[in-house]
Amino acid sequence: MRNLNQHNITQAVIDSFAGTPDPRLLQIMTSLVRHLHAFARDVQLTEQEWTQGIDFLTRCGHITDDKRQEFILLSDVLGLSMLTVAMNNDKPQGCTEATVFGPFHVDGAPRHELGDDIANGAKGTPCVVRGSVRGLDGSPVPGALLDVWQSDDDGLYDVQHQGLDHAQSRGILQADDDGRFHFRSIVAVPYPIPHDGPVGRMLDATGRHPWRPAHLHFMIQAPGYETLITHVFRDDSDYLDSDAVFGVRQSLVCAWTPQPDGTYLLEYDFVLNPAHSE
Ligand code: BEZ
Ligand code: FE
Repeated sequence: MRNLNQHNITQAVIDSFAGTPDPRLLQIMTSLVRHLHAFARDVQLTEQEWTQGIDFLTRCGHITDDKRQEFILLSDVLGLSMLTVAMNNDKPQGCTEATVFGPFHVDGAPRHELGDDIANGAKGTPCVVRGSVRGLDGSPVPGALLDVWQSDDDGLYDVQHQGLDHAQSRGILQADDDGRFHFRSIVAVPYPIPHDGPVGRMLDATGRHPWRPAHLHFMIQAPGYETLITHVFRDDSDYLDSDAVFGVRQSLVCAWTPQPDGTYLLEYDFVLNPAHSE
């Protein structure tokens, strides 16, 4: 391994991994090196640009903590998160499509009874959300657990409000014996992803905006079915065609219908994919 040059270094690095015992890790490292080197050759990467890239990743690391994950945000805005979701959730026709998880889910959200107001004081226009959870064959999924979360009228999730000590606009509900659910919340609005860090600077430098169209997050779990992680998007929202994280699917776009009393109604029926038996 002496006198490596720009023409033979790629193969030398690939060969250095030849003793990797785990075949999948070997495949991933080999492909990573091949594509990384091809990228550097493709753009004829300068030493200054290499330094800028390292500095960018360092800044991503420095801003990351247990609440802020800049690397996932980077993956989101590069479409890698959604590509991974799409490749791993290729469900049969008729199933509700999956989309990105996002950084604002909280484990152990409060349990709510059907009909409760999960907004719990969050600022926003009141709405009722109702629908059903069914299997691909149309049969109800009794007792399905729905973990729901959304931002408020200021475009902020409860966890983004400094000093707020209780959950707002999030909660876990259990569908009834017919797989039906209903709860009260607030109407979703568009909001920008966190853009005060290096990912935000990258969006600025490339003329991209940080906005996501209005949406309500769901994670739905039931024995015998694949867990569904998805959103329902508001059909009259801005940014449906330019979501900063590429998460929109037409099948997930739905109307929040105005009601005579000034509130709104969202009706959405979810279809779960049966779990594959091993
Ligand atoms: C979200 O929808 O909560 C989200 C998704 C990706 C990045 C930032 C936020
Ligand atoms: Fe969100």
